[in-house]
Order: sequence, then C-alpha cells, then structure tokens
Amino acid sequence: MNIKLAVIPGDGIGPEVVGETLKVLDKIGEKYGHTFEYNKVLAGGCAIDEYGQCLPQSTIDACKAADAVLLGAVGGWKWDNLPGSERPEMALLGLRKELGLFANLRPAMVFDCLSDACPLKPEIIEGGLDIVVVRELTGGIYFGEKGTKETDLGPVAYDIEQYSEMEVRRIAEVAFDMAMKRGKKVTSVDKANVLESSRLWRRVVAEVAEKYPEVELNNLYVDNAAMQLVRAPKQFDVIVTSNIFGDILSDEASQITGSIGMLPSASLATGNFGMYEPVHGSAPDIAGQNIANPMATILSAAMMLRYTFGLLEEADAIEAAVKKVLDDGYRTPDIAKEGEKAVGTKEAGDLIVEAI
Ligand code: IPM
Ligand code: MN
Repeated sequence: MNIKLAVIPGDGIGPEVVGETLKVLDKIGEKYGHTFEYNKVLAGGCAIDEYGQCLPQSTIDACKAADAVLLGAVGGWKWDNLPGSERPEMALLGLRKELGLFANLRPAMVFDCLSDACPLKPEIIEGGLDIVVVRELTGGIYFGEKGTKETDLGPVAYDIEQYSEMEVRRIAEVAFDMAMKRGKKVTSVDKANVLESSRLWRRVVAEVAEKYPEVELNNLYVDNAAMQLVRAPKQFDVIVTSNIFGDILSDEASQITGSIGMLPSASLATGNFGMYEPVHGSAPDIAGQNIANPMATILSAAMMLRYTFGLLEEADAIEAAVKKVLDDGYRTPDIAKEGEKAVGTKEAGDLIVEAI
C-alpha cells in the first residue's frame, strides 16, 4: 500500500514520541512492502506561535487530504493563560468536529509484565484487564449550545447536553461491533435517572442491542460505573458512553492500568478514516529530554494500521515488538521501578524497530 499520513507532532513531548513512531512505520513499510508519506502540519500551541491560531485551515485541509492522521499531543504552560476559546486544546475539538471523528476508542489494558504498576490490589486485576471505552466524540455537552446570560441572580453560564437518535445509534453500533470481536459484553453508561438526554441514549442503545443477540448489554449510571471501575474492573469489556462521561471514565480506566504512557487511542469517522494519538498529554515538564515513553504513540500507529488500513499482520507485528521490548526488561523512566535501568525515548524506539 502507499499510505499518505497527515502528521501533527504538536507540543511538548509530541514531536519526540511521533518521531519514534515514524521510525517504526518506516520499518513496517520496509518489511511488508508499504510506503508511508508524511505530511507534517501544525496544530496546538506551536500553531498559535506560527499562525496565531491553534488549528489553521491549512492543517484541516491537509488532514482531509490524507488517508489518516497521526497526532502527538498539544498544549503547554506557555499558552496556559490564553482565554478558554483560544487554548491549544481547542485544536483537538476542532479536528474532531471538522473530520467527523465521532467514535473515540480508548483501550485500557494491563500489560502482564507491568501489572504491579496498577494502583489497585493485585487480586482485583488478577488474570488481566482489557477494557475499551467507546466514547462519543462529536456531540453532547462539548458541542451543544453554550453561552452566558444576565438573570435576576446575576450572570449565568450554561452548556447544553443534547443527543440525537442518530448520534447515539452510530456510536452504539461501533461499540457492539467492537464487542463482537472481543468479549461480547457492552456496558452503556448514562445518567438516565436524572437526564432526559440519557433516557434517549438508553432507549436507542437498547434498540441497537436487538441487532446483536450474542452481545450482553448492561446499563449503568455513571456514578455507579465510576465506582465499579475501581471495585471490580474485570466485569467490563466494552464501555459505551457520552462525550463527557467518556472523558472522565477513560481517564479513570487508564489510571487503573498504572501506565498511561502506554495507552493508545483511535478517533474514527464513518468509512475507515481516523485520527490516532496517545492517551497521555504533552507533558511539558519532561519535553526535550529524551525520557518520554513513545510506546503509546507507537501503539496508536498499530491501531491505525488495523482500523484504517486493515493491515492486521503489520499491526500485530508492532504490538508484538512492544511486548518483546518490555519482556526483555527495557523500560522508559515512567514505567521503570526503583533500581531498574531506564532507556530513553530514542533507545526505546530503536529497540522496537529492531524487534520488528
Ligand atoms: C481528552 C482531553 C480533551 C477532552 C480536552 C483536552 C479538550 O481531555 O482528549 O480526553 O476533554 O476531550
Ligand atoms: Mn480527557
């Protein structure tokens, strides 16, 4: 295949972890006979510095012209004092909306050899943990009507949570399709005891479930789901939920694995187009020091090969190489224990390339 990628290294550790990932993709291309073309474009803080805006139209156009997008991370202290609507993070919301990336897949799995990084008691995750949060990404309160108004009580600000049947149906279908390829269990998370939008959500998810008789559907209120995630996380296979609940629960799930530097994510549109990025952020405190863990971004590239390009063998090869490097005892500082010798970002990338 000849694959054209839009690459957004972004800010902080983004350029370093993306750099290692491109090395890995080049190696995959060489071994399996594909060519990767990279169109590097700016978004986030670096785009504010260069163009005065976090998401220039040229970046959106480059992403639309590409087969998929690989993103590092955006944001940093330098831009922390900008007003909310001008912050680097707004680039993410703009990309999601402009590219129609309505389905956000955030796997949270515990790597066997890193299982003691999990902050929960060992018996709670014994036998492994493998959850994927399917978060709705272009609707809900993030994109609903918002504003401020004067009232008798003084100024008031509001953000509206709203979902259409279509939006719920298409994200539910992604979740059930995913469950069919995994543990055949979907947990839909809402707040249907209080919110009208959640009652619509629950009704539509139940309708979709009828098309998947093999998949078990459970409904949980979000407060209970947050509690169950730390009490008995192994009960979950696929969690499907709204934009804001998914934002919160996916952070909780990633923390349970103890190695947020390891977790990839995919944001998918209809068709096979997607944007792939690590779950972690730009970590400005460790940027430029060759100590960031590139594995989450490298594993995001594996998701890209699998979901956008259907290159299953190649995706497996990347995941197996990451596993081998870990099993051989190599660790970046974020996952190294007391006394273990850590490798740098570049060395970790080189070791994964070598293992492929
Ligand atoms: C995430 C982030 C973003 C979100 C922010 C930075 C806009 O927290 O990707 O989870 O809330 O979606
Ligand atoms: Mn978040």
